[in-house]
Amino acid sequence: MPYTIVIFGASGDLTRRKLIPALFSLFAKGRLPQPTRIVGFSRTEYSHDAWRDKLAQSTAEFIGKEFDRQKWEEFAPTIQYVPGDIGKPKDFERLSAALDECEAGQQCTRVYYLATAPRFYESAIAHLGQAGLATESNGPRRVVIEKPFGTDLTSARRLNEFVHTVFDERQVFRIDHYLGKETVQNLLVLRFANTIFEPIWNRNYIDHVQITVAEEVKVGSRGGYYDTADVLRDMFQNHLLQLMTITAMETPVRFEADLVRDEKAKVLQAVRALDAEQIIGRTVRGQYEGYRDEPGVAGDSQTATFAAVHLSVDNWRWQGVPFYLRSGKAMSCRTTQIVVQFREPPHMLFAGAPPDANRLVIQVQPAEGIQLHFQTKVPDSDMKLRMTDLDFRFSRAFGGELPDAYQPLLLDALEGDASLFARSDEVELAWGIIDPILDAWRSRNEPDLAVYESGFWGPIESNEWMNQQGRNWFDSCPVLGQ
Ligand SMILES: NC(=O)c1ccc[n+]([C@@H]2O[C@H](COP(=O)([O-])OP(=O)(O)OC[C@H]3O[C@@H](n4cnc5c(N)ncnc54)[C@H](OP(=O)(O)O)[C@@H]3O)[C@@H](O)[C@H]2O)c1
Repeated sequence: MPYTIVIFGASGDLTRRKLIPALFSLFAKGRLPQPTRIVGFSRTEYSHDAWRDKLAQSTAEFIGKEFDRQKWEEFAPTIQYVPGDIGKPKDFERLSAALDECEAGQQCTRVYYLATAPRFYESAIAHLGQAGLATESNGPRRVVIEKPFGTDLTSARRLNEFVHTVFDERQVFRIDHYLGKETVQNLLVLRFANTIFEPIWNRNYIDHVQITVAEEVKVGSRGGYYDTADVLRDMFQNHLLQLMTITAMETPVRFEADLVRDEKAKVLQAVRALDAEQIIGRTVRGQYEGYRDEPGVAGDSQTATFAAVHLSVDNWRWQGVPFYLRSGKAMSCRTTQIVVQFREPPHMLFAGAPPDANRLVIQVQPAEGIQLHFQTKVPDSDMKLRMTDLDFRFSRAFGGELPDAYQPLLLDALEGDASLFARSDEVELAWGIIDPILDAWRSRNEPDLAVYESGFWGPIESNEWMNQQGRNWFDSCPVLGQ
């Protein structure tokens, strides 16, 4: 069956930087199902050719030396453009007519990709419904919705309810591009296709888990948006909690979307609810020095650009194992890593063993791979120990560049596999964890908003907070070379 991807927000940054380069790379590798048409929709008046020319330039820029001009010439005719306004029902009628014309009445799978600001989601969905574009009489119809999905539990619930007035849940693909990264998918394989990890993947052997998403960049031109969001909404509600669910979930019965998502949802359900007092003690919040001078940011902004949060997962596997989640801007480097810290041996035979071995580091970016840290005897010494490591890098093991995360996710949306997309209950459960933290911070104005210097690992208070719990952050950058 042919495929059509309709991109709302066709003239925007996401389309230019991620979606078209991903679709083109899939096409060039022969992995894009054939035939697939791409139809762009936004207000800017382009002809088909003008849009294709713009995309040729931006794709060449973002793909770099991999850009194959000849392949592009084959790909370009599959791209079309329909100018229109998401707020105008008439423009959806024109879009519908244009789609009917290019599909020539054939059965066809259609994916509507909402690459627009969230304030347009409801309008786009309502008008898709009114124009009959969500009905499946002529093939499957799906909608991909970008993050952020809501700004709190109430708005996420309202948006879910609204989406469900037009699309069934099985047609809805809420994207979190972290789940398209090879290492994140490999975490499922590591845990569920090997037997060696499962026996020790629990409270008996694991001391704690750290999940860090550190950004080197500051807010830049996103100050206006960021100042109304903050790090919990921007990073924790989606990326960090998704990484946590994949680390902590039980084995699904089969690798099927709903079964995988059932297990992920159970992790979120098991996260212990905390009162405001407990939240204050279990969180650190910070703001990088100079944030209030950024364009679009209020001069007295209380927005956190850094947070560390201690969550407990109340089930048999994880009882008593802290999950420390941390993210910040203006940090020492760009890295996303999951650190599984195993317990010390119950009785240490060797004096002077360095701390912090017994650790599995799963690096999601910049390099994607895994490192295992363990104690080793230093040769030609009296039982002197040193921490050494074994590492696995995707790029070294398999060669070549890893695909951008949007590639597998776009393919999954075309094929209707929602395993790596968030379901409505997951999104709401995640907001149900974040909202109380935001409420506690706002109502108590605690913990103090710690100002931190750029280029390090967030506020010093974050290290002190970890030390008080008898632990240290694993601050290493990069863990694996590129
Ligand atoms: N950029 C990224 O790397 C990135 C990464 C992850 C997630 N996201 C998410 O992706 C979404 C899009 O982000 P973006 O950075 O691409 O935004 P953007 O550059 O501001 O693009 C917005 C797009 O929406 C279109 N648009 C605005 N008003 C419209 C209307 N009334 N009718 C039709 N089209 C309209 C704009 O085109 P016209 O002005 O021509 O109408 C433009 O194509 C956001 O939800 C964002 O959070 C972006």
